[in-house]
Amino acid sequence: MAGVLLGWYDRHARVLPWRAPPGRRMDPYRVWLSEIMLQQTTVATVGPYFQEFTRRWPTVTDLAAAELDDVLRAWAGLGYYARARNLHRCARVVATELGGSFPEDEAGLRQLPGIGAYTAAAVAAIAFDQPAAALDGNVERVLARIYAVADPLPQAKPALQALAAGLVPDQRPGDYTQALFDLGATICTPRKPRCMLCPWAQWCEARSLSIQEELPAKAAK
Ligand code: ADE
Repeated sequence: MAGVLLGWYDRHARVLPWRAPPGRRMDPYRVWLSEIMLQQTTVATVGPYFQEFTRRWPTVTDLAAAELDDVLRAWAGLGYYARARNLHRCARVVATELGGSFPEDEAGLRQLPGIGAYTAAAVAAIAFDQPAAALDGNVERVLARIYAVADPLPQAKPALQALAAGLVPDQRPGDYTQALFDLGATICTPRKPRCMLCPWAQWCEARSLSIQEELPAKAAK
């Protein structure tokens, strides 16, 4: 399954400001910055902010040397200012305690301010090609459908995390991770998924049951 998704990604990867073309290494600073910005904020909104941050502060050391007030001002409009404060704190730890290099594995990344399970997995996979399973809302939806997971979120989360971990390939886990984000954003959409174009359609249990639009299930109120 992973190989088919990677082939699809090679043809259809979205061009995004923080992204290198398929198969190319990505700068961990840019991966980390984009993943923090993309939490609770859309790809379209993040684009110009990402461009402005990387223009003003091209490396994590530059960001660490910035005044917090300047970072908060540049962040205005993205919301959730705690994210910006942690961003700056994290940059300072990486610059001063880690010699300007991000840790390469999930456990090391998890130690840093503002980096939770999702971000640690995303950075480990995308920046360092580690077989880590990054589960965001898009990926949860894709997997709930592929495996027809009937339990609603958030109860289904541990099961989805286990399914996600079982699917990550050893080859190109970073591209695979980004391919899953793209699949969720462009094909396996919340409403009216475009199953005719889906590289995983043949494996999708929800589709074979015609319940893809009902998953993931919503918790009873
Ligand atoms: N959503 C979260 N992280 C993303 C990424 N790196 N690319 C596209 N969408 C994302």
